[in-house]
Amino acid sequence: MARKIIIDTDPGQDDAVAMLLALASPQDLDVVGIVAVAGNVGLERNALNALKVVELSGRKDIPVFAGCARPMRRPLITAEHVHGETGLNGPDLPAPKLLLERQHGVDFIINRLLQDEPGSITLCALGPLTNIAMALIKEPSIAGRIAEIVLMGGAYFEVGNITPAAEFNIYVDPEAADVVLRCGAPITMLPLDVTHGVQSTPDRLEAIRALGNRAGQAVFEMLSFSEDFDLKKYGWSGAPLHDPTVIAYLLQPGLFDGRRCNVEVETGSELTRGMTVADYWHVTGKPANVQFLRSADAPGFYTLLTERLSRLP
Ligand code: RIB
Ligand code: CA
Repeated sequence: MARKIIIDTDPGQDDAVAMLLALASPQDLDVVGIVAVAGNVGLERNALNALKVVELSGRKDIPVFAGCARPMRRPLITAEHVHGETGLNGPDLPAPKLLLERQHGVDFIINRLLQDEPGSITLCALGPLTNIAMALIKEPSIAGRIAEIVLMGGAYFEVGNITPAAEFNIYVDPEAADVVLRCGAPITMLPLDVTHGVQSTPDRLEAIRALGNRAGQAVFEMLSFSEDFDLKKYGWSGAPLHDPTVIAYLLQPGLFDGRRCNVEVETGSELTRGMTVADYWHVTGKPANVQFLRSADAPGFYTLLTERLSRLP
């Protein structure tokens, strides 16, 4: 029985690869909907990019919604410097024929969680947590009906990327992250500690391009664009690949290792705003609210990703 998931995303090249990985795996994952959130670029462009990626996957059955256009309390901070003006620079994807659903993405999340069997839907968060936090605030009862929130965000040993202290998704909307971390639903985090260990090295990108299908070529062009910023910044042989780790965790959890511990987020200090503080060594005695993953089997991850991408048009 395929696991029902809602993907909340700010595509972004790495978000797009995560979406393709999920949409290539219908026997494992039933994508009941995709909700765009403001993050990498503005909401309108993220939503347009989500439509383009769904069309690229050939899965025209997947509804796409627009969610919140800015963080709960702060002005939106975007990342065109990484993802390009469009948010999906690299491939020249055609204007989508698919249209956005009229329903607001936050209401879609609430309604599906209320109408589907309790514990049957997993939320996959690939961007700032604004939509999920707003859904929890508007309808608190959904917290007990969420099977799991699997999110790419935060860091502990790897500390920050958008600031020395904070990872981008959490930094953009730390108040939303605080709502999610306190909501009581099962949470699994894929932090920078994991994603910095799965780097898109040239041989891995070449294996994807060599698939020879449209999806492989598009992913190659996407990651060849977005890697530039990170290669210059870190000097590594490959850029970290963030969001697809969320989907890979659902497909093959054995690729990842970590532990349950308490994770909280800084919302007061401007110096460390958005910092996720993981009590990895259990020094506080605070209750564990998160499965905090710390490492991944990188070769296994790329073998999974490449094989699944080969199944797409
Ligand atoms: O810090 C990495 C995260 O920020 C990823 O989700 C990437 O898409 C950007 O949104
Ligand atoms: Ca993202």
